[in-house]
Amino acid sequence: MADLSIDFAGIKAPNPFWLASAPPTNTGYQIMNAFHAGWGGAVWKTLGHPIVNVSSRYSAVNYRGRRMMGLNNIELITDRSLQENLTEMKEVKEKFPAHALIASMMFETKAEWHECIARCEDVGIDGFELNYGCPHGMCERGMGSAVGQNPEVAERITSWVMEKATKPVIVKLTPNITNITAAGLAAQRGGAQAVSLINTINSVTGINLDTMVPNPSVDGYSTHGGYCGPAVKPIALNMVSELYNHPKFNLPISGIGGIETWADAVEFFLMGASSVQVCTAVMHYGHRIVTDMHDGFSDYLDTHNLGTPTALTGITAQKLRNWENLNLNHKVIAQINPEKCISCQLCYIACEDGAHQSIRLPEDSRIPEIIQETCVGCNLCSLVCPVDECISMVQVPTTDQVITWKEHPANPHSVGS
Ligand SMILES: Cc1cc2nc3c(=O)[nH]c(=O)nc-3n(C[C@H](O)[C@H](O)[C@H](O)COP(=O)(O)O)c2cc1C
Ligand code: SF4
Ligand code: SF4
Repeated sequence: MADLSIDFAGIKAPNPFWLASAPPTNTGYQIMNAFHAGWGGAVWKTLGHPIVNVSSRYSAVNYRGRRMMGLNNIELITDRSLQENLTEMKEVKEKFPAHALIASMMFETKAEWHECIARCEDVGIDGFELNYGCPHGMCERGMGSAVGQNPEVAERITSWVMEKATKPVIVKLTPNITNITAAGLAAQRGGAQAVSLINTINSVTGINLDTMVPNPSVDGYSTHGGYCGPAVKPIALNMVSELYNHPKFNLPISGIGGIETWADAVEFFLMGASSVQVCTAVMHYGHRIVTDMHDGFSDYLDTHNLGTPTALTGITAQKLRNWENLNLNHKVIAQINPEKCISCQLCYIACEDGAHQSIRLPEDSRIPEIIQETCVGCNLCSLVCPVDECISMVQVPTTDQVITWKEHPANPHSVGS
């Protein structure tokens, strides 16, 4: 079994599966239970001036029988006093010295940041995470995503923190920004040792059609919230890879956003992460999901003869390139396996009405046929087909020559034109 222990930017942990700063890390009681269950680290619920929360505060997108495909919250940072949190942090560190305990923080003035850093270091925490990401409530007060969306301010505040912190500092980035690399580079210029992403995405999850009030309702009104859970994973994976692939960015990345299984965790590593954090899945299913993460992740490493989690970091990110560098000479077409086909004809409808009219219904059979001459290999039929591996995309022979848009004759600016 592979050794899952990591050293993330100087923070050591028995495994790379950490709880993200959120309700599951509100208290020492919860974090100690999580460590017992197998989590390797935890980022404490963001410390700051304790706030007052609204009631209610969560809403969700259910999709075709799947509960909480996306979760939305209008919750703020910790609503408990700094002293209460520090006392419990000390207890956690004493009982679990080998686990990673990170203090997430959000303050306004340099003096406040410095005071909290000193007090957290006194109780033995292993590192800091700077919350520049909350998309509601705190940004109106000049914190959270108001900082994360402004690289200059993010750099300045990070450098304030670096003046005082002797433990590693992770900057947590907001996805509510056009260019994530600008934010990551600002954290790097400010002196941070790592970044984590993503925090939640601005969202309105739905409207109660009887009352016409958006969810969640607070006395008949609502506000935009932060979206997370499985629905945001594709956005998070892309942002992690964008940062990882940026030639000037060289900090370790803690990947967050929709992670539920070992396979999700592996994907974040492949896209450039060297640790992962989880919130929604633990709110949904509890601490126990980490057992499957351990087993599946280490089996995957063993199968691929890789000794450590970070041997995976970035392998797939390197397979992403700009569209103009893809091979326009590569061609696939759809192929239906008649043995597996249940004749639902969803593929026919999708191609006929939504793609390239390249599937015909033969008069003597309920099994559709691909019109090879016009199929463009878009994948749509294989995506809608309800039977696994019934439609496969098969490569058709072309010349071996790789032709990208840069060389393509249809490009008026092509090399050689
Ligand atoms: C109810 C709730 C409260 C959260 N509070 C915080 C917070 O205090 N600080 C923070 O940095 N992130 C906070 N987050 C964001 C999570 O840490 C995480 O970045 C986000 O939920 C994406 O991960 P997930 O898809 O695994 O939930 C919160 C998320 C939720 C759902
Ligand atoms: S791959 Fe696209 S074009 Fe080809 S048959 Fe399927 S849906 Fe039609
Ligand atoms: S969608 Fe799949 S199962 Fe349904 S008709 Fe097409 S190939 Fe057959």
